[in-house]
Amino acid sequence: MTDKKARLTVDGQDTSVELPIYESAVGPNVIDVTSLTKNGFFTYDPGFMSTASCESQITFIDGGKGVLLHRGYPIDQLAEHSDYLETCYLLLKGELPNQEQKQHFVQAVKDSSEVASSVANLIQSFPKEAHPMAVMCSAVAALAAVYNDEIDITKEADRDQTAYRLIGQMPTLAAMTYKHLKGEDFVASNPALDYAANYLNMTFGKSTDDKVSPVLAKAMDRIFLLHADHEQNASTSTVRLSGSSGTNPFAAIAAGISTLWGPAHGGANEAVLNMLEEIGSVDNIDTYVAKAKDKADPFRLMGFGHRVYKNFDPRAKVMKQAADEVLSELGLENDPLLAIAKKLEKIALEDEYFIQKKLYPNVDFYSGIIMKALGIPTEMFTVIFATGRAVGWYAHWDEMVSKPYKIGRPRQLYTGYTQRDYPA
Ligand code: CMC
Repeated sequence: MTDKKARLTVDGQDTSVELPIYESAVGPNVIDVTSLTKNGFFTYDPGFMSTASCESQITFIDGGKGVLLHRGYPIDQLAEHSDYLETCYLLLKGELPNQEQKQHFVQAVKDSSEVASSVANLIQSFPKEAHPMAVMCSAVAALAAVYNDEIDITKEADRDQTAYRLIGQMPTLAAMTYKHLKGEDFVASNPALDYAANYLNMTFGKSTDDKVSPVLAKAMDRIFLLHADHEQNASTSTVRLSGSSGTNPFAAIAAGISTLWGPAHGGANEAVLNMLEEIGSVDNIDTYVAKAKDKADPFRLMGFGHRVYKNFDPRAKVMKQAADEVLSELGLENDPLLAIAKKLEKIALEDEYFIQKKLYPNVDFYSGIIMKALGIPTEMFTVIFATGRAVGWYAHWDEMVSKPYKIGRPRQLYTGYTQRDYPA
């Protein structure tokens, strides 16, 4: 708390309401408006443009400067020096692990990666044309049925065990979903492989012992890492709100998966590829850029713009570099769809409309390109985002429930009918 106070004066009232100001470690301070309700007011902030919904120590974003820090560490440094599981530990525990802690964490995640047969059967019960995000959402919700009696959320050991299960089983569920929708047999987890390599093998392999390209495994690990957390975005806020009722954590994560699916959020990576296919040729780019700028046309350039980043998306910077590496490794620099993506990026970056509105390519633009190059089917893109993000959702849920918390319960500006009598 600072000594400074905000004072709110309302027209026609003599007294002003004094509101405490809390100091952030970095970034804007916040005004505590909880006492306003006693004074007969609610705050109104649709889309939560100016609302800090919680106190958190996990991730910091400065959208104006293009900064993203996990527990203080810049995302580009983590992408260069760390790996996904180490970053998971950092997000969950607050510090980088020492060697012993890391080994223990990696082993615990591996040991928890096997999916219950009831959940595997559930995945197999879905029609082959189902969207994989719908299947994932159901499969993760089903983990709540498998583990409900075993989780006491007030106990740290239970919460740790749940983290291992979630992080361990997300790639297994994602791979099973893919295999089922393709009509192929599941490939069992290989404990000798690293996390990302194992995911690729369970997804694209034919047997547990298949070889996985280290370049592709590294790119996959980086995709998971770059998606690991992003503070109070729509899906994370959903997980916190859902979890605030004291529900089973897997049920709360399933709610987050549902939120991520939408094209304004994680579904944008799939939408980017669909858009590139719709554009079809570099000759059509100008038409689509014009559509995106036309207020009467609902079309938007998918993979451009961000609620928070108004300079550049630091994840996109790292992802672009990874995309260039993967494309050259795979000899795909001349792929026609990727040529459209490159040209579109160039045109949009030079266009006054995009410059003025500070619309830069976001992480989904480049992750879509890289996943396409890796041969991952478009409809699986958001599943991969969800797999990487699971730890972020969980870290925020864990941070919330490990201290006293209140159920989330927003209020409203009611503009409907006042009371009226039922017609006699
Ligand atoms: N193409 C064309 N115009 C755009 C775009 C776009 N992609 N994004 C925003 N605008 C315009 C918008 O029309 C508005 O114009 P005006 O001020 O004249 O009304 C202005 O820019 C501000 O847009 P907004 O919708 O008010 O901004 P927002 O913060 O509510 O939305 C967004 C952010 C990400 C939903 C939006 O930029 C968008 O729809 N982008 C495309 C979808 C996308 O790539 N989403 C992935 C986000 S990053 C991954 C993640 O974290 O989930």
